Amino acid sequence: MSNDAKTVSSGQTVTQAPGTVASAPVTPAPLRQSKHDELRLLVNSRHPIITIETPEEERVEQVLLEVAAELAVPLYTWSVTAGLAKAHGAPIYNTDNPEQAVANIALIQGDAIFLLKDFARYCDNDRVCRRLRELAEKFRAERRSIVITAASLQLPPDLRGDSVPIQLGLPTADELLPVVKTVLADMNRTQQIPLALDISGITQLAQNLVGLPQEEAMRALRMCILARRRVDVGLLDAVLDAKRDALRSDGLLETVRRDASFADVAGLRRLRDWIAKRKSALTPEGRRFGLEPPKGILITGVQGCGKSLAARSVAGEWGYEMARLDAGALYDKFIGESEKKLQKALELAQKLAPMVLWIDEIEKAFASAGSSGDADAGLSQRLLATLLTWMQDRESGVFLAATSNNISALPPEMLRKGRFDEIFFVDLPSVDVRSALFALHLKKRARDAASFDLPALATASEGFSGAEIEQAIIAGLYTAFAQKQQLTTEILVAEIRGTQPLSVTRAEDIQAIRDWAKTRAVPAD
Ligand SMILES: Nc1ncnc2c1ncn2[C@@H]1O[C@H](COP(=O)(O)OP(=O)(O)OP(=O)(O)O)[C@@H](O)[C@H]1O
Ligand SMILES: [Mg+2]
Repeated sequence: MSNDAKTVSSGQTVTQAPGTVASAPVTPAPLRQSKHDELRLLVNSRHPIITIETPEEERVEQVLLEVAAELAVPLYTWSVTAGLAKAHGAPIYNTDNPEQAVANIALIQGDAIFLLKDFARYCDNDRVCRRLRELAEKFRAERRSIVITAASLQLPPDLRGDSVPIQLGLPTADELLPVVKTVLADMNRTQQIPLALDISGITQLAQNLVGLPQEEAMRALRMCILARRRVDVGLLDAVLDAKRDALRSDGLLETVRRDASFADVAGLRRLRDWIAKRKSALTPEGRRFGLEPPKGILITGVQGCGKSLAARSVAGEWGYEMARLDAGALYDKFIGESEKKLQKALELAQKLAPMVLWIDEIEKAFASAGSSGDADAGLSQRLLATLLTWMQDRESGVFLAATSNNISALPPEMLRKGRFDEIFFVDLPSVDVRSALFALHLKKRARDAASFDLPALATASEGFSGAEIEQAIIAGLYTAFAQKQQLTTEILVAEIRGTQPLSVTRAEDIQAIRDWAKTRAVPAD
């Protein structure tokens, strides 16, 4: 990507104080330069060829129409079916052939913008390519630009020097707002659906749709409205759910409900304090005070001790939206576009800010980057580079909560200072924490913890992880039910005695993890 493209596509997102409502907090007017302004700048600065890789052709056309109107230049569009035509005008005779189209563009006098849909594929033709290059040369002296758009786009090397790629990206809340208003007005007029939402509600509605391409966002909105037959506060949540569904089918990034908070976690005191303290950095007062917004943590440690649970709880604590990046889905052998997919997922995460990005078992995605000879080593290496660059350069607003079961498999670059704010190590629970774990999980299953001998259970379960304690309770419930009696301390102790915890069966592995963590991580408890 050229430098131009990088500066053109960079932007800023404003972090918000954590909200407590189910809907995401409203982001204030973004500092981000709009696509509109970027395109106007490019046309004005005489860039002959601009490429936009996006499936959102209509949105491109809409933005270009606005830009053209503002610059008072005509917009021409071309497609292989319609040929070349001035916007809202009749097609020019015999221009559906790509070479003819370019020849015709050369004949059109004066400033203009030409939108060529799906044109990249025709540029492989030598004559088309040559003609385009000649045009580009002439265009440099005038305010004429050709915009080439396609869902997937690659220009031949000869043309790359004359072209600048711009990323349309996903629409911001500001860009969605007018379209949302149009849809509401439409539904009100054609379907008589009452509008019971004030302007701040409508603004929130646009915000809740951020993360989806425009077309898809509007489709989701229309479906939600039709299902509810009214536009009211309830629509805000309905739209969030629809967005989660839509993103789920995308595969890589899955927005998930905030389903855990620190009330569900026993122990891990230091980690909880850390997260609680960082919450103030996310408030406007904290920002004014000069608190650095946190970027992310890596949680590692013994299996079943609450790494994933703790990572999930961060979003609940802060009242942020949360999305999970599926590290396994990155290796899509059939599509073979893993880096692009990762890039897109990270971009999407940024759009959803403020949010927590949860990457569980991060080593699965990037581990083989460290070991050469692996068939996937090259790919992992590139994926890792993509992620590290993002971690380094990203704007604030996305907090990365990663877990790893085997941190020694992670490449050292990832662990370098500055990538994560902190690396936490979760060890087997202490006797006090085991007692708290029993209390917590008994209560979760509607049992009164006070009627159990918690100290006895905690002592008996020495070496047990939180997951193993939970399992003992589940197994105990089965036993009690089979014996037609209530769950008792004795039944639980018997279950514990009958279990070999991992800390016994895999004692060496656990010792190795501990040794590794001693010098490199902060104890979570
Ligand atoms: N500290 C804890 N507090 C409360 N529950 C816990 C704790 N540790 C484990 N659990 C229980 O065990 C389950 C499994 O824990 P979790 O998946 O978070 O562990 P993990 O460390 O990610 O394990 P793995 O290494 O297998 O991925 C949790 O859903 C929770 O019910
Ligand atoms: Mg886990």
